[in-house]
Amino acid sequence: MASIIIVGTQWGDEGKGKIVDYLADKCEYIVRSHGGSNAGHTVMVNNVKYKLRLLPSGILHKDKICVIGNGVVIEPKVFLSEIDDLMKKNVNISNLKISDRAHIIMPYHKILDEMQEADLGENKLGTTKNGIGPCYMDKASRLGIRICDIINKETFKKKLKFNVELKNKLLKKLYNHEGVDYDNLLKEYLEYADRLKPYIADTSIILNKAVKENKNILFEGAQATMLDLDYGTYPFVTSSNPSAGGACTGSGIGPSKIDNVIGVVKAYSTRVGEGPFPSELFDDVGQFIRDKGGEYGTVTGRARRCGWLDACVVKYASYVNGLDSIALTRLDILDELDKLKICIAYKYEGKILEGYPADLEILSKAEPVYEEFDGWKTSIKDIREYDKLPENAKKYLKRLSEIIETDISIVSVGAEREETIIVKDIF
Ligand code: GDP
Ligand code: IMO
Ligand code: MG
Repeated sequence: MASIIIVGTQWGDEGKGKIVDYLADKCEYIVRSHGGSNAGHTVMVNNVKYKLRLLPSGILHKDKICVIGNGVVIEPKVFLSEIDDLMKKNVNISNLKISDRAHIIMPYHKILDEMQEADLGENKLGTTKNGIGPCYMDKASRLGIRICDIINKETFKKKLKFNVELKNKLLKKLYNHEGVDYDNLLKEYLEYADRLKPYIADTSIILNKAVKENKNILFEGAQATMLDLDYGTYPFVTSSNPSAGGACTGSGIGPSKIDNVIGVVKAYSTRVGEGPFPSELFDDVGQFIRDKGGEYGTVTGRARRCGWLDACVVKYASYVNGLDSIALTRLDILDELDKLKICIAYKYEGKILEGYPADLEILSKAEPVYEEFDGWKTSIKDIREYDKLPENAKKYLKRLSEIIETDISIVSVGAEREETIIVKDIF
């Protein structure tokens, strides 16, 4: 039995969905534990593209139990439309469970997200405008509405009334917005409640039972370490804890039950939204990576900022998450490059920085120190064994593993399930 956490190590979009879909074959349970529809996990199976925002990627395997844990913020409309889309593609969703403790994203959260971003002007965070921040704000302020509330009509009415009054004060007085209508919202959300009911459960009980029965459980990270509210490049982060600890608090499984933490690392760096990014490329190589990698957001369609692989970021992610190994994805995107670089350190005021700077002033002035590698200049897409990779690709991987002081367990060489090389046993 194994409980495995899959965590993003950079700024998101590392290919967590692909790795989870691959490993899900050997697992009975797949769990999302934080974030919400800000996530966009693209999974390719037999040339069909699935774009998942709230549902765990394990849903694409028949008979897996997929769980949306208490730490997730759920927008019912997105959840239901995702289910409808998958049903149209004949995907079995009868084994899907959502936590009765998860918080609900309401339309006023999305409006507040937009208003707050507009208000920040040039200091904006570049959020996905899905209402994530305002929903987690309500959770922390103890004003939030949870899944268990929506199925209790009287409680829901009371909580909604109170929240609508409060949010309308804010929207009207602070943002000059017309506000939201209580009756319309009540009607809309009670309809959602009827459709959500069959999926609602105390998911912590289900998962702890699974642990006792020695089942394999996969925790599917969303977002990533550098977007973590505590460890990321604050304030340019999301409002939850996507790092490994968040998988426990967001699902109701204790840390002693976790066996393995795998960090997903993209072979180069990308970032959507604002915030410092020391190894960002503004030249032809950056544009080549963006074009070849199709680096445009799944959720917002925004062009992703691209740069060299930053080992300072991955090493930091390795210790804050306690990584046992990494899964390196998208190595194939670098196939054609003559030279590759890895950022191995940051220099600030002439000195090499230790650890990862919290102060964004320092980070934005930090100069990346690079190590250069020769490219392998051949397609690796069809390779399935580590030993058969070109020597220059192996050199790049070996050196990366040394710099980040972490083993490599998986190398992904394409978006499809089978385009995967297992370097080290995981189960
Ligand atoms: P996530 O948010 O971490 O799940 O990542 P996204 O789905 O947002 O972005 C990763 C993209 O890369 C998706 O389109 C995947 O299908 C694709 N992908 C994953 N692994 C590989 C790989 O090894 N090579 C290539 N070419 N594409 C990959
Ligand atoms: P996956 O799971 C990439 C980024 C947003 C923004 C910041 C805050 O697909 O890797 P939010 O809407 O969460 O308040 O936005 O976080 N962000 C992501 N970037 N991948 C994601 O998820 C992201 N989820 C949030 O772009 O910079
Ligand atoms: Mg994504």
